[in-house]
Amino acid sequence: MTLSSRPSWNRWACSRGRFRGVRILDRLEQLAALGDRIGYSPEEDAAHELAAGWFREAGLEVEVDAAGNLIGRIPGGREVWTGSHLDTVPGAGRFDGTLGVLAGLEAVERLGSPGLGVVVFRDEERGCAGSRGCTARPDAYVELHIEQGPTLLRADMPLGVVTAIVGYVRGRRTFEGTPGHAGTTPMDVREDALVAAAEFVLHAREGARGIEGAVATVGQLTVEPGGTNVIPGRVVLSVDARAPDASRLDRLADALELEEPVRTEPSPMSEEIRAALRAEVEALGLPALELPSGAGHDAGILASAGVPSGMLFVRSLNGGVSHNPAELSSPEDIALAVDVLTGALGRLVS
Ligand code: GLV
Ligand code: MN
Ligand code: MN
Repeated sequence: MTLSSRPSWNRWACSRGRFRGVRILDRLEQLAALGDRIGYSPEEDAAHELAAGWFREAGLEVEVDAAGNLIGRIPGGREVWTGSHLDTVPGAGRFDGTLGVLAGLEAVERLGSPGLGVVVFRDEERGCAGSRGCTARPDAYVELHIEQGPTLLRADMPLGVVTAIVGYVRGRRTFEGTPGHAGTTPMDVREDALVAAAEFVLHAREGARGIEGAVATVGQLTVEPGGTNVIPGRVVLSVDARAPDASRLDRLADALELEEPVRTEPSPMSEEIRAALRAEVEALGLPALELPSGAGHDAGILASAGVPSGMLFVRSLNGGVSHNPAELSSPEDIALAVDVLTGALGRLVS
């Protein structure tokens, strides 16, 4: 599909008269109007303020914990939380994280059962600081999220139930060279830090290609001193490397030799929650397609901390693109997802 023939947000927004979840679309738009929202920035603060107002309107008891996470609860009962995050990557779309918060609020409002809660975790994109710092531990956590990949689109399915979340390791590598004159330093005596960094980027690509299901990305590069006519003397780059299980992640991490690596283990989702989600998908007359998540999520952090956790994916359109303004899910798929989430939360809370 070419970019110009891609379904756009505007087209979906115009068709929303047909969609009974208009409120979600309006709120997606209000949040998108805040622009990119890096964790703990004034823009993320503004998004949390908007959400806190919606939580209060819904009659939830609102609190903010020490990590800045926003939690809206109906007190009592088995604590079953849903939610996601409202921070974004630079150059983000509208749905990543945001959809899980808004759909979660719809479901909790619909059910109104004691024990239910909606949580907005801080700073998910840069390493899940909010969910790592959250000291309250619900009895179960269910996160709805845009798939961010093409699996459901290819299978022609609106929804999928997540089996497990990949493990990942993030860190940096530093390359030192000798800065010098770009015109007078012969090629055979140069110590160019960027050339060494470029070799590492290719090494990371080959390392990930050699391990089934693994991926590695260099997304940031700092080149010093940064002059067009100066040989680079120092380069620092970021690495994000992922693999479906711990032994493959070990092999990948060994190959990359990262400085100050931060590792998140692969997290299987709770069988009880998977079963609840599958049952609700099947109640709509759809087959319950199950798939792993290549993206990291707060649900993985909670699962690693011992909270039974599960995830429902909503089909991504536009080829599955995400971390990109063309990220898209349809109102019809979102409506189905809210129904499934509501049903699953109802099963889990009682
Ligand atoms: C979160 O979006 C991630 O990078 O997986
Ligand atoms: Mn997300
Ligand atoms: Mn994301």
